Amino acid sequence: MTGDPEERIDPSNYYDRLGEGEWERLDESFKNGLEFENTTEYLDRYLPESGHVLDAGGAAGRYSIWLAERGYDVTLLDLSAKQVAIAKRQVAKRDLGERVTVQQGDIRGLPFPADEFDATLCLGGPLSHVIDADERDAAVRELYRVSRPDAPVFASVMGFVAVVQNLIKCAPQFEAGVRQLPELIETATYSPELAEKYEGENPSFVECHFFRADELRRLLERHEIAVETMAGLEGPASNFGANIEDIDADAQEKVAQAVRTLREDPTIADLSNHILAVGRVE
Ligand SMILES: C[S@@+](CC[C@H](N)C(=O)[O-])C[C@H]1O[C@@H](n2cnc3c(N)ncnc32)[C@H](O)[C@@H]1O
Repeated sequence: MTGDPEERIDPSNYYDRLGEGEWERLDESFKNGLEFENTTEYLDRYLPESGHVLDAGGAAGRYSIWLAERGYDVTLLDLSAKQVAIAKRQVAKRDLGERVTVQQGDIRGLPFPADEFDATLCLGGPLSHVIDADERDAAVRELYRVSRPDAPVFASVMGFVAVVQNLIKCAPQFEAGVRQLPELIETATYSPELAEKYEGENPSFVECHFFRADELRRLLERHEIAVETMAGLEGPASNFGANIEDIDADAQEKVAQAVRTLREDPTIADLSNHILAVGRVE
């Protein structure tokens, strides 16, 4: 890969290149399925019975389609032109065009009036891809502004502890990962500078800020979104994808059960690949 270091790990370029891979992500493995199943359980528990839901950073539309199939009106917004095109196709394929509006846009400046939505989703890490702290604050202010009073807000981000563990786990195949640990731990951010310094022209990931669970809680609460629940979506299965892929269905169900039982334990939430916060607009 060539070009500017910033462009190489820019989220819209990265997700444009990823294309259909993002649509496939949530059911391509048992472990990624845990993220989807646990998230949808919280959606079921906290969503109002009906209404208009914003899926901010909704990518190819997995959650938007899940919501539309349950009768919600949905607006999906995403930075990546390619993901927006895939989402439009997936929505049309299921004849859900009446229920789902798909548009390109940025969570740092949402093109919607105040109090527009009955519930707001920002799932799977859009807030992690905003690596500037002030801009993350701006994004959460926007999620707050467009959500009506008392609306639930669901935000999931990439976990900091899990990424540190994963880089250590991958050390034999990916030494550049452990070499960057001191700087990554200092900033909790995989930045263009870090990627360029340790991985040159072949960065391993998209720019990303990795969260501690408490940091996510404080980010939402600073903007008057009162957090009611925090959960680790892969919990104790985080970073063990390969170990649990080929065990039989009964054994996988035992793992899924362990994740469900432990996911709200604060330590488990903090060490998860993805950390979910469910809050309510005050
Ligand atoms: C890992 S995907 C998650 C997609 C989906 N919400 C899910 O949970 O499966 C992250 C998405 O966030 C989008 N994204 C990143 N930064 C964004 C921003 N500033 N505004 C809107 N979308 C953004 C990316 O384009 C990508 O489609």
